[in-house]
Amino acid sequence: MIVHASIKDYEVRFEDSFENVAAALAEGAPFVVADRRVHALYPHLFEAVASDRLFLLDAVEEKKVVDSALDICRAMAAMGAKRNARLVSVGGGITQDVTGFAANILYRGIAWTFVPTTLLAACDSCIGGKTSLNFEGYKNLLGTFYPPDRILIAPSFFETLSEADLASGLGEVVKFNVMGGSDALSELEASIDGLLALDPETVNRFVRRSLEFKRGIIEEDEFDGGRRVLLNFAHTFGHAFEASSSYAIPHGSAVALGMVAADAVSGSRDIMSEALAERVGALVRRIMPAFDSRLIDDAAVLSAIRGDKKQTGDGITAVLLDDAFDLHIVHDMTESEVALGCDAVRAFLDKVRAA
Ligand SMILES: NC(=O)c1ccc[n+]([C@@H]2O[C@H](COP(=O)([O-])OP(=O)(O)OC[C@H]3O[C@@H](n4cnc5c(N)ncnc54)[C@H](O)[C@@H]3O)[C@@H](O)[C@H]2O)c1
Ligand SMILES: [Zn+2]
Repeated sequence: MIVHASIKDYEVRFEDSFENVAAALAEGAPFVVADRRVHALYPHLFEAVASDRLFLLDAVEEKKVVDSALDICRAMAAMGAKRNARLVSVGGGITQDVTGFAANILYRGIAWTFVPTTLLAACDSCIGGKTSLNFEGYKNLLGTFYPPDRILIAPSFFETLSEADLASGLGEVVKFNVMGGSDALSELEASIDGLLALDPETVNRFVRRSLEFKRGIIEEDEFDGGRRVLLNFAHTFGHAFEASSSYAIPHGSAVALGMVAADAVSGSRDIMSEALAERVGALVRRIMPAFDSRLIDDAAVLSAIRGDKKQTGDGITAVLLDDAFDLHIVHDMTESEVALGCDAVRAFLDKVRAA
């Protein structure tokens, strides 16, 4: 699969085995940045990587900062990297954000291959070219656009993900395939067991579909000035659930809950039927860990929404889905609709816990 972007076209490849990943780490002696946990879990992949070409990164938000990107530049400069240097990074979204930023600023942009090892990075963040770093306590405040040249997706990596990280990735997969329309939703319903069991063919198919859906939008609006807002479906609530729970609810799970909240608002505006909201809810229930509903606090959620960098006006901006699977960008979501969404999510989480 090829993604067209103004800076460069880039390729996403699906790998049935780790063979080509190991080859990408060995060929031409690139500089390698690996998530420390992934390196410990898959040592054989890194056998050909000399220790002075290897940088291990702790995948925690505190390390998703400019200092980490500068440390990588420093290590590469120390080994004499020139403009033709190549970087290969292996890990999830944190590793991607740090290495993308480093690859972008070193010599104004060096060759970069990314190997996503989380489902979330594979189905969503690996394309689109955004690099985002935390700064002064603000999440994702600094950033650039710099896509990898090549992305290698090996779904076998997902087998070692924690339940929470797997559930988080599944949240984005469900979101893309709800946005994808009636057929995509039916196919997801028919395949959810295979996805949960990490059946390789099913995982590949849905990661590919998710990326194809995202590609359709980012190729039209590469720099986030128009249609790309649609990708924010379920994210107004989602980001707020993440932040107001102090990240106890991981991104993709917060987005899946954001869908439940947004659909409740769609329902109260009479643009979505109960039947469709229930179908989406049934899928989200299959992938949702048992979070305490007290993590959702109306006042904290509202203040997180008000603090969101994407909320630039007086009314609250959100993306709502209707029964025809059309997405609507609204700028007039009210505080009482936020409360209604929170109510729906608390009731939903109580049901998940009781099950
Ligand atoms: N740039 C973008 O477009 C974009 C989009 C969405 C999210 N993000 C960012 O991505 C980050 C979240 O990324 P994420 O959820 O992909 O994961 P992550 O990088 O936060 O990693 C999550 C955990 O999984 C571990 N891990 C990674 N791969 C593993 C594997 N194969 N087996 C076992 N453990 C593994 C990591 O060590 C870490 O503990 C956030 O910082 C978010 O802001 C960026
Ligand atoms: Zn997301």
